[in-house]
Amino acid sequence: MGKVKTIWICQECGSRQTKWTGSCSACQQWNTFVEEVEATPRHIDIRAPMASQPVKLDQVKESDSKRYLTGFSQCDRLVGGGWVVGSLSLLAGDPGVGKSTLMLHLADQLARQGLTVLYVCGEESVEQTALRARRLQVATDNLFFYSETNFEQIQTHIDRLNPQALIVDSIQILYKSEIASAPGSVTQVRELATSFMHLAKKLGICTFLIGHVTKSGEIAGPRVLEHIVDTVLEFEGDRQQGYRILRAVKNRFGPTDDIVLFQMHAEGLKEIENPSQAFLAERLKESPGSAVVPALEGSRPLLIEIQALVAASAFATSTRRSSGLDQNRLTLLLAVLEKRMGYTLHRNDVFVSVAGGLKIVEPGIDLAIIMAIASSFSNRSINSDTVVMGEVGLGGEVRSIPRVEQRLKEARIMGFRRCVLPERNLKGLASQDIELIGVERVDDAIRKLLS
Ligand SMILES: Nc1ncnc2c1ncn2[C@@H]1O[C@H](COP(=O)(O)OP(=O)(O)OP(=O)(O)O)[C@@H](O)[C@H]1O
Ligand SMILES: [Mg+2]
Ligand SMILES: [Zn+2]
Repeated sequence: MGKVKTIWICQECGSRQTKWTGSCSACQQWNTFVEEVEATPRHIDIRAPMASQPVKLDQVKESDSKRYLTGFSQCDRLVGGGWVVGSLSLLAGDPGVGKSTLMLHLADQLARQGLTVLYVCGEESVEQTALRARRLQVATDNLFFYSETNFEQIQTHIDRLNPQALIVDSIQILYKSEIASAPGSVTQVRELATSFMHLAKKLGICTFLIGHVTKSGEIAGPRVLEHIVDTVLEFEGDRQQGYRILRAVKNRFGPTDDIVLFQMHAEGLKEIENPSQAFLAERLKESPGSAVVPALEGSRPLLIEIQALVAASAFATSTRRSSGLDQNRLTLLLAVLEKRMGYTLHRNDVFVSVAGGLKIVEPGIDLAIIMAIASSFSNRSINSDTVVMGEVGLGGEVRSIPRVEQRLKEARIMGFRRCVLPERNLKGLASQDIELIGVERVDDAIRKLLS
């Protein structure tokens, strides 16, 4: 018998090396190489059925891309108007964010329409999944649970049951017995995904794979999967806060710039129809330290409240804390306030957060962060029907931001009457039914909003 051939594979991006190296030259990650047994080249059947023949565009039938709708209207819209029959989707997210919950909801909705749905729960027992299903009020005869991690077994049951939708929870726990590598390794994950892709296309099964996101080198990052699947959905959110965001980051059947916002309840996830309203619901009007900004999440404007608290520091070193914001960005903005406005912030503790537990990395919220801090520092409140937006540069200048019309529209819908925005954005802007106040510098904005 020949020696078993092994190879080192980066678990993040899947690049291959014959020797171990500390960092990956392809994706620059450290400690991601794991030794795996070389997979035997896949057997390609050249006598494949007549189905694949070169065809002309007008010979392709429309019905080839039939879609299933779920009761989750925003989710359906997110992927371009329903889930394409025979497509393979990946739902990736942190542990405990609610991936199984979301998929169970979708499975339930599909099964209620009379589709046969198979839910492979490799990570949990059938009892555990059933317990969750009862909590989510799943009640349908067409949904089958199957606790199994071996691919060949699952395939047998797919052939027997002939489901129209298949959910795999999760791809990292499954294994193919012909592959020597551990479950969750790049080789296993890639081979499995490819097999599910073939099954999905051949049998017209709408397939969903759940994948974990983890930095640890032991488990394959779903990045290697992204090339194989048709659609990649990311599910994220703060576990303490009830909000979750579903994002399409790759989509072969629709756009990728939309998001869906959910709230986690005891009975499961609910789509939030009007996110801006939800985020502003608990806002205290006319209170110092609060600024509202129309921020962009994907292509969607959301009204977000930025809250700041500036308090005299009890210790020699002051504290700066933030949640939902980039900490480096906050440090930079504080420096701008100190240097350009002469605020003595180094003697104060500064806390800044995005209300509602959302995470926003867009620079368009800079000015709102600065205004919230300035408002708390000076103990003066910003008028409650005013929104603030703009990027702030190191010189204290307010820089222009993209998609201003959309942001203004959202602000208007939510009943705001005034907007402080970068002077440069005023050019070429059609007149709006909202008062526009252009500013060039941070001090300009502070004067106009807090005096
Ligand atoms: N009884 C309950 N009431 C309200 N919310 C619950 C309840 N049980 C669980 N949850 C919520 O569901 C979340 C877990 O959901 P779920 O098991 O679907 O996540 P997951 O992403 O599949 O996790 P894992 O990575 O462990 O598979 C919890 O973080 C919690 O927010
Ligand atoms: Mg789960
Ligand atoms: Zn790599």
